[in-house]
This record gives sequence, structure tokens and C-alpha cells, in this order.
Amino acid sequence: MSDLFSLGGKSALVTGGAQGLGRMIAEGLLRAGATVAITSRKTEICEQAAAEMGSIGRCIPLPADLSTAEATVELAQRYREVAGQCNILVNNAGRTWGGPVESFPDKAWPGVMAVNVQTPFTLVRELLPELAAAGTELDPARVINIGSVAGIKPEKLQAYSYAASKAALHMLTRDLAGDLAARNITVNAVIPGYFPTKMTAHMRDDDEVDSALLAHIPLKRLGRPDDIAGLVIFLCSRAGSYITGAQIPVDGGVVGCG
Ligand SMILES: NC(=O)c1ccc[n+]([C@@H]2O[C@H](COP(=O)([O-])OP(=O)(O)OC[C@H]3O[C@@H](n4cnc5c(N)ncnc54)[C@H](OP(=O)(O)O)[C@@H]3O)[C@@H](O)[C@H]2O)c1
Repeated sequence: MSDLFSLGGKSALVTGGAQGLGRMIAEGLLRAGATVAITSRKTEICEQAAAEMGSIGRCIPLPADLSTAEATVELAQRYREVAGQCNILVNNAGRTWGGPVESFPDKAWPGVMAVNVQTPFTLVRELLPELAAAGTELDPARVINIGSVAGIKPEKLQAYSYAASKAALHMLTRDLAGDLAARNITVNAVIPGYFPTKMTAHMRDDDEVDSALLAHIPLKRLGRPDDIAGLVIFLCSRAGSYITGAQIPVDGGVVGCG
């Protein structure tokens, strides 16, 4: 039982792990014993976050802008050189765009689809040799894609390309899960509801949460770091070995009770 949720000896890559949800996840993986590489577009932010999390465990900064396939392939190469093995890949980096349908611009599509859908696929493809080498029947390698409640049900956010990209990522998760199961790699989607990060900053005023938003969440609060970290640790540990192709909400009931 004591090692059921341990990640000792495992190596992870968390995209966007320097800030927001990615940082909550990276800290959780480190606390559970993993070595964790994180990315950020800004070198300084990436290095500072890695230095801060270095007090918990080995955290490796890998600055990268993941809006192109070329940069994503290059990140996989740098990860391989510095970390060697890859037991866990968390595709967390994501972009959004909100605006009324009448003026929703064409430029709000390619960048969002690239970072939210294509980059996760490219990273899986590039790290396939490492993931396959790390996975065993009893303890597979893990890919976790960070989806969104907005990709499951209409959330009226006017984030058209974002919601469509997350629905695509959920489907990609199931497709890859089926194809990679025989190589002892599980692929799951974690579906966050509302967490207080930069992405949801417009829903808070001086840390006061919009009352309409709280009324929309059955458990009447935003998500906390332990909520997302706990689910990801579970999925990456031996306890989560038998789960693949799943879409698991961590959302205070927004999807399940809606
Ligand atoms: N917050 C929520 O309530 C919520 C709900 C559902 C789903 N999510 C999902 O959770 C994930 C993290 O979002 P968040 O809430 O933590 O928002 P956030 O604070 O805005 O973080 C977005 C993350 O994505 C990274 N990123 C954005 N564009 C990138 C690019 N072109 N290349 C590389 N990295 C890029 C950012 O890295 P840098 O800025 O450091 O470069 C940052 O770490 C996203 O996939 C989001 O869709 C969040």
C-alpha cells in the first residue's frame, strides 16, 4: 500500500509546468517522487520556477514555445538528452481566445488548434520510443492530456476555437489510448472545471469569484492545487495502471451534475 501512489524513479515532462495548472501538476509529481521537466515560453520564468520547485525534487527547466511542430520536435530532443527516460507526459500547455461570434477572428483558430491539439500529438509521436521503453504491463507509461469542461458541454464562454480544440483533444486521447495500449502506454484526459489561473482571471475581481460562476459549480468553489495534482498523481501511479482512454472531470460537479 505504501508505494501504491509513489512516483519514485519516474521521469515526467509537463508542458506549461512553470505556471498555473501545469505548476500545480508539476509540484504534485515532484512531491510524489518523480523527476519533472517543465516548459515555459519565457526562459527566465522557466528557470525561476524550476529553481523554486527544486526544493521539492529534481526539476528541469526546458524553455520552449510550442506553437510550431518544429519547436515541439526540438523540445522532445532536448528532453531526451537531459532526462533520458520518459514515464509520464502531461500535455498541459494550452491557449484560449474569447469573443462574440460576429467578430470572432480567423486568427483565433490556427494558434489555438496548434498548441491545444497538434502539439500534444507531436509530443506523443516524438517521445514514443521513450514511453514504450518505460512502460510495463504492471506499470505502463502515462500520457495525460489536459482537456476542459468546455470541450464536453457548452459553457457559454464564447471561446469557440478553444472549446472545439478541447473536444478534439478528448477524441485524440481515446484514439491514442486504443493504439498505444499494446505498447503499455495509457492515455487519459483530465478535464478541469474552473481553477484560479491566468486563463480564468477575467472571471475574478480582486480574487473575488464571480457569484454566477460559483452558482454554476455544484460544489460551490473553484479547484485547488491538490484537486488537480491528486488526480494526476493517481493516474501516474501504480494505482492508475488499469485506466486508459478515460476522460475524468475534476470540476466540482460541472459535468457530472449538469
Ligand atoms: N484554469 C482553468 O480553469 C482551466 C479549466 C479547464 C482547462 N484548463 C486547461 O489547463 C491548461 C493550463 O491552463 P491554465 O489554466 O494554467 O492557464 P494559464 O495560466 O494561462 O497557463 C497556460 C499554460 O500554457 C502555456 N502555453 C500557452 N501558450 C503556449 C505556447 N505557445 N507554447 C508553450 N506553452 C504555452 C503557458 O506557458 P507560459 O505562459 O509559461 O509560456 C502556461 O503554462 C490549459 O490546457 C487549459 O486549457 C484550465
